[in-house]
Amino acid sequence: MSEAFVHRPVLGREVVKFLSSVPEGTVIDATVGGGGHAGLLLEARSDLRLIGIDRDDAAIAASRVALARFGDRVQLVRAGFSDIADIAESQGDIVGVLFDLGVSSPQLDRAERGFSYWSDAPLDMRMDARQELTAAEVVNTYTEAELAHVIDEFGEERFARRIAAEIVKARPLTTTGHLVDAIKLAIPAPARRKGGHPAKRTFQAIRMEVNRELPNLREGLDDSVHLLSPGGRVLVLAYHSLEDRIVKRRFADWSGTAPVPGTARRLPPAPTPAPLVRLLSRKPVRPTEAELDANPRSASVRLRAAERLA
Ligand SMILES: C[S@@+](CC[C@H](N)C(=O)[O-])C[C@H]1O[C@@H](n2cnc3c(N)ncnc32)[C@H](O)[C@@H]1O
Repeated sequence: MSEAFVHRPVLGREVVKFLSSVPEGTVIDATVGGGGHAGLLLEARSDLRLIGIDRDDAAIAASRVALARFGDRVQLVRAGFSDIADIAESQGDIVGVLFDLGVSSPQLDRAERGFSYWSDAPLDMRMDARQELTAAEVVNTYTEAELAHVIDEFGEERFARRIAAEIVKARPLTTTGHLVDAIKLAIPAPARRKGGHPAKRTFQAIRMEVNRELPNLREGLDDSVHLLSPGGRVLVLAYHSLEDRIVKRRFADWSGTAPVPGTARRLPPAPTPAPLVRLLSRKPVRPTEAELDANPRSASVRLRAAERLA
């Protein structure tokens, strides 16, 4: 495996366990990254094939090396969630779709990608280098109100409005260091000393905006459930409460466990469509203490899994 992409797959054992009983066929790893989960799964199930998707060139290159030992059981495609349906066509039975959301550790570790607030680098934050929107464009061209909205919504940052105002004052911003300085100026000193790096939430918010992470997730989930053959499973590892809320709602809708409006008030129940899936756990799977010690990146993860019904 390429040095740059070595990282321990989050909840690796649990992911393999959920996929260990799927029928024979093809699994789509929609976020193949460095091939960590993919490698564990292909080792555990010699009758599975895997299509690994990632919109990051560096991830595809790294997983090509990491998964070379599985030969033609693996096909790697540089693409986004919106391409999943096209890629899956004519691939036979799709028996699993895995989403391990967010950025990979190597994306964070490579300063020049602009994801990290620990080093000074150009304001980029694109997972897909072909796309036009960069972090520089967001911080330099969005209105103050738009910036405040992004930072509040995706960063859940209570000083969002002050940070947006400080960013607008500091324009033009060209580097991550410049952005960190503006954020620090906006956050009152007592708050700055608490709760981790002061730029953490704002960086997360801008990254989610640059990469359209939530709209992509909705689209990817909706396509994936329809691709699955009966007994196939969809698994999502989410690291952010907004991501997990989307997954939870979609799973509830598909399984028919979402509350139906009006039923509490003795109205005739609305006809409910036949459920598409059954949930494999009522609550999301969280990391154990041992996993947290070995893999701090897993701290906020929530794994949800569902099985396609006939
Ligand atoms: C957390 S990493 C995956 C790590 C992988 N599970 C492993 O074990 O090596 C998430 C990956 O998903 C990719 N990604 C995020 N959003 C994507 C999207 N909409 N389409 C395709 N890939 C995406 C990122 O580029 C990143 O490489």
